[in-house]
Amino acid sequence: MHDKTHLVDDVTGHRRMRRNRKADWTRRLVLENRLTVDDLIWPIFVVPGDGILEPIAAMPGVNRMSVDKAVEAAREAADLGIPALATFPNVGMDLRDQTGSQILEANNLLNQVTAAIKKAVPNIGVITDVALDPFTSHGHDGILRDGVIVNDETVEQLVKAAILQADAGSDIIAPSDMMDGRIGAIRRGLDAAGHQDVGIMSYATKFASCYYGPYREAISTSGLLKGDKKTYYIDPANGTEALRDAALDVEEGADMLMVKPGLPYLDICWRMKEAFGLPVFAYQVSGEYSQIKAAAANGWIDGERAMLETLLSFKRAGCDGILTYFAVEVARHLAKKG
Ligand code: PBG
Repeated sequence: MHDKTHLVDDVTGHRRMRRNRKADWTRRLVLENRLTVDDLIWPIFVVPGDGILEPIAAMPGVNRMSVDKAVEAAREAADLGIPALATFPNVGMDLRDQTGSQILEANNLLNQVTAAIKKAVPNIGVITDVALDPFTSHGHDGILRDGVIVNDETVEQLVKAAILQADAGSDIIAPSDMMDGRIGAIRRGLDAAGHQDVGIMSYATKFASCYYGPYREAISTSGLLKGDKKTYYIDPANGTEALRDAALDVEEGADMLMVKPGLPYLDICWRMKEAFGLPVFAYQVSGEYSQIKAAAANGWIDGERAMLETLLSFKRAGCDGILTYFAVEVARHLAKKG
């Protein structure tokens, strides 16, 4: 007597969402977002020496590499179709000082690896981070004086460092320090030095996050850092402030914007894409990577599916691409799937 179908119809009318989900072929047909190898930027860690592949305990599957190994990795990434790398140096403690002066060495480890990669694998993009933290004895991104990170002096040094990075062959400068006025200053510096074609990907909204923990082990700054980075990174509570900060970077000439970390800040990715229309990238940072790896290693989640689902979420949130330590793993997966 009681027609269940009829009861459902009373509520839904003729709208049945499940029709489009009924088979694999319909699901493929209505798919809105797709992750491709073209969306990937692979961050790598570089150490001095030769023939070195050094596992990073806090980032299972990620190694610090000497320059020769980084070149091999760049070749593999290029063969997989990954468009670009982002490089981070782990320099000897003897080279770190109060002002991060090693960043002004034309032939420092970061510039060495850029030059080597551009020479051997010219068709892969190299994105270099310009910030002082790998080079300071205190692990901060700026010059520390009397307990204060001094803004303008830091910017002046970053401009010089950016020009040296461009001289070494960097294609895109990515300032990750969050000092005020850095984008405009770097743009003017690059132009004056004849590097009009070198782009700027701004870490436009970089939050004072706990998710950078494993990265600090990767570049050996975790033991050095005193205090926190709250006077220059953005408070995780503040979305509108993040948008205002990004707006300044757009005005100052950023070519691309980045949101960092990624997954806890998908709302910011979406708002930035809507507000500016510039290419927007999410950085799925070390802690995001490691928590997936750790849960997978314990058998608590399916690591491969978590990798794919999180990367896809960035596309859905409007991102044009993702910096991710999964880049090679996911590129292999996508190639296998065809
Ligand atoms: C700082 C910098 C950080 C990361 C890259 N550059 C954060 C920090 O140490 O405060 C983090 C990257 C990651 O966690 O994967 N210039």
